[in-house]
Amino acid sequence: MTRKIFSFLAVGICICSLCSCSKPSQVEILSPDGQIKLNLSLNENGQPFYEVTVKDSLFITRSALGLTAKQEINLSEGFEIEKTVSDSKDEIWEQPWGENKTNRNHYNEMAIHLKNREKVRLTLRFRLFDDGIGFRYEYDIPSTDSLLITDELTAFNFRQEGISWSIPASAETYELLYRKLPLSEVETANTPFTLKMANGMYASIHEAALYDFPEMTLRQQGNGAFKAELIPYPDGIKAHKANRFTTPWRTLQIVPEAVGLINSALILNLNEPCALASTEWIHPLKYIGVWWGMHLGVETWKMDERHGATTANAKKYIDFAAANQIQGVLFEGWNAGWESWGSSQNFDFTKPCADFDIDEVVRYAKEKGVVIIGHHETGGNIPNYERQLDKAMQWYADRNIRYVKTGYAGSFPYGLSHHGQYGVNHYQRVVETAARYRMMVDAHEPIKDTGIRRTWPNMMTREGARGMEWNAWSEGNPPAHHVTLPFTRLLAGPMDYTPGVFDILFLKTRHSPRRKKWNELDQRNSRVNTTLAKQLANWVILYSPMQMASDLIENYQGHPAFQFFRDFDPDCDRSEALAGEPGEFIAIVRKAGEKYFLGASTNEEARTISIKLDFLKSGKQYKAVIYADGEIADWKSNPTDYTITEQTVTAEDTLTVRMAAGGGQAISFTPLTPL
Ligand code: NOJ
Ligand code: CA
Repeated sequence: MTRKIFSFLAVGICICSLCSCSKPSQVEILSPDGQIKLNLSLNENGQPFYEVTVKDSLFITRSALGLTAKQEINLSEGFEIEKTVSDSKDEIWEQPWGENKTNRNHYNEMAIHLKNREKVRLTLRFRLFDDGIGFRYEYDIPSTDSLLITDELTAFNFRQEGISWSIPASAETYELLYRKLPLSEVETANTPFTLKMANGMYASIHEAALYDFPEMTLRQQGNGAFKAELIPYPDGIKAHKANRFTTPWRTLQIVPEAVGLINSALILNLNEPCALASTEWIHPLKYIGVWWGMHLGVETWKMDERHGATTANAKKYIDFAAANQIQGVLFEGWNAGWESWGSSQNFDFTKPCADFDIDEVVRYAKEKGVVIIGHHETGGNIPNYERQLDKAMQWYADRNIRYVKTGYAGSFPYGLSHHGQYGVNHYQRVVETAARYRMMVDAHEPIKDTGIRRTWPNMMTREGARGMEWNAWSEGNPPAHHVTLPFTRLLAGPMDYTPGVFDILFLKTRHSPRRKKWNELDQRNSRVNTTLAKQLANWVILYSPMQMASDLIENYQGHPAFQFFRDFDPDCDRSEALAGEPGEFIAIVRKAGEKYFLGASTNEEARTISIKLDFLKSGKQYKAVIYADGEIADWKSNPTDYTITEQTVTAEDTLTVRMAAGGGQAISFTPLTPL
């Protein structure tokens, strides 16, 4: 509390020191701990610029702010500061599911009210947290009804050189390989855009609460200066807005250690509280699915002699789930329309295939205590999906199917983009429609996560990066990918990566006579590029409240290492990234009830790290089951060598975690006596 009062005074002092004239042209704000300072000033044309200082050293040099419109209205210049309103907050709030059910929202706010000659009112709202900043534009333009936004001028001009991890900007996909590049060599980037600066600080640019606006990407302007780029409509217009609107928050996390990026709640904190009247129907779960067989080419989505989603196969998967403490089963390729995938994309979301008796599958699943995860592949045909959306959600809800995986594998119509304003609004419409039917969503080929799960907690998880599927039919995801994702894509939110392939080299399917197509698998020598222990570790590391064991169930049958998934609980209360460096290694622990799960993994390099167990409850003994790389494990030459050992541990202990090249380690901790 003392700290809070001090911070508030600090904001006040900063502003007053610059307010000697009636209309100040610059103002300042400090983070609660006083380490981050933001300065806002107007140039001679009345355009706002900001600057960020971290521990008295300049971090972001004078960087532009503002939007532009097609209409003859100046949205970025001619401004004067009318008034500045300060505020601060220090609250604890809760969400129905992890990574952390309890979060602290502690910031100082400065709302700078600007007005220009054309009576455009702009409030620039800045929030400074101890781990970064967020700001957004709130426009009110009396002289017009609607606006065509043509550009966003927001810049991020880094003072120092650094190295960065990112995927290139794309209006259509995030399923791209990450690049590690000097800041000055990045031409375009999508966000989260993660950096390590020359002074050792880590940073990440992203956005929060993306609604009714195109996504923001970044373009290099030279010397580590980046400018926001909004994904356009086909005619070049970026956004259609009414005369009063608020943009998403632009975020910049700034922390001394890489794991601080992961442990930050900044993006969630900038989202609005839960919009749903009740959330008791929203639950994390573990799932398996009729899925991997299609990607490997031994089964098909469309109804033919190799059809995956048959009633008989469904029952096999339901039996396996029921016997292995897995709550859900996903069925892809269950409905009419797969014959048109890649052409007209006319899926019917209420018409099951003739060999998939959904009512019998639902009945059987209920009898076994298993839930079904439905699937809506749209192929990108949004008008077709939106026409059926309500009916399709109602149809599942009527059958008590409460989870739906969506997919957008295909182009949107009329040249519209996945990541433009049209796409953003479509994805949101699905989330809100689903909420009305008490349905939870797992979106593939989604719009990127910007923390909207705080407001819409039925938006459980999404893909939005290269997931497991890429290993089935391409050169695959390299070992560094899984230790880059936690510091990039996963800063945005949970990911449905679908880890857990045990038949790493596809030995059981590669030469199967059922595999008629996808023979690129052989040409590219596709496989999973990790050790087996790293597959287990990824269940912990690559957080998803809906966590899948993605392999064919026959590859888990009788496999000792599958016990880890049986014991695993994705409904975690608390998470902490303990150690790691982007692209190199990571160690994360998650607490679920009284159990803890630790996942550690490495890139192509073998390494050994020490992990203090001080996250455990002190004075208690735990049984640690350690799933480690075997002596001769190596992702390339010997990926399936692993060991399982047990140890009694306490919070006083330190574990030596040895990881093979491309390997990892997964540990479950269960209290030995009731707590
Ligand atoms: C791409 C999704 O990422 C994948 O999970 C799904 O199986 C296919 N589309 C088909 O819907
Ligand atoms: Ca995909």
